Amino acid sequence: MNDVLSDVERAKVDAGDDGAFYGQPQFVTHADDGFLDRLTALYASLTADGDRVFDAMSSWVSHLPAREYERVVGHGLNAAELDANDALDEWFVQDLNDDQTLPLDDGGFDVVACALSVQYLQYPGAVFREFERVLAPDGVLVVSFTNRMFPTKAVRAWRHASMDERADLVETYCAAADLAVADVVRERPQTDPFYAVVARRED
Ligand SMILES: C[S@@+](CC[C@H](N)C(=O)[O-])C[C@H]1O[C@@H](n2cnc3c(N)ncnc32)[C@H](O)[C@@H]1O
Repeated sequence: MNDVLSDVERAKVDAGDDGAFYGQPQFVTHADDGFLDRLTALYASLTADGDRVFDAMSSWVSHLPAREYERVVGHGLNAAELDANDALDEWFVQDLNDDQTLPLDDGGFDVVACALSVQYLQYPGAVFREFERVLAPDGVLVVSFTNRMFPTKAVRAWRHASMDERADLVETYCAAADLAVADVVRERPQTDPFYAVVARRED
């Protein structure tokens, strides 16, 4: 399939089934508290009571601030983790490297969040086009990442990139989906670096 990444760039060390890799629930966090607090603060600055949120590639935590969201839908690969996530009103399991089409209506979300996970997408152009489709006009996409990963499951393009090059990569994913990049956050505290690409649906 044609996508932003070439076949070489999308290769993983472990080409085995992603669902099997994430089959055992992991009730851990994937970045330090400084990163997670910064992410919650970013979400707080970009979202409001009443928003409809899609947390893509989620787990047992969503890092959302205390808000009265109208609806929070989660997605991931492990049902036990998603079931334990108190932020979610509903959730579904889907391997986005097998099937990029989301079972969600057009324009139904004000916010799409994708935390600490974009490095695992082998067809990011197709997935980001789905993020664009499910966003309401002027809806916001927040893609956050640090320098941690499951290295055998991250795509080659990500593994071989610097943090700034990773931000550039996420910008190309947004461009492929006609999402307008509004901000690229690059913060390097003593702890895990905090990077986020914020993009909006243009129409
Ligand atoms: C490092 S965890 C991050 C989870 C969560 N967003 C967080 O901030 O804690 C990576 C997540 O990516 C998701 N993921 C990895 N590969 C995937 C795939 N092929 N399809 C869908 N989701 C995938 C899994 O749900 C997994 O929980």
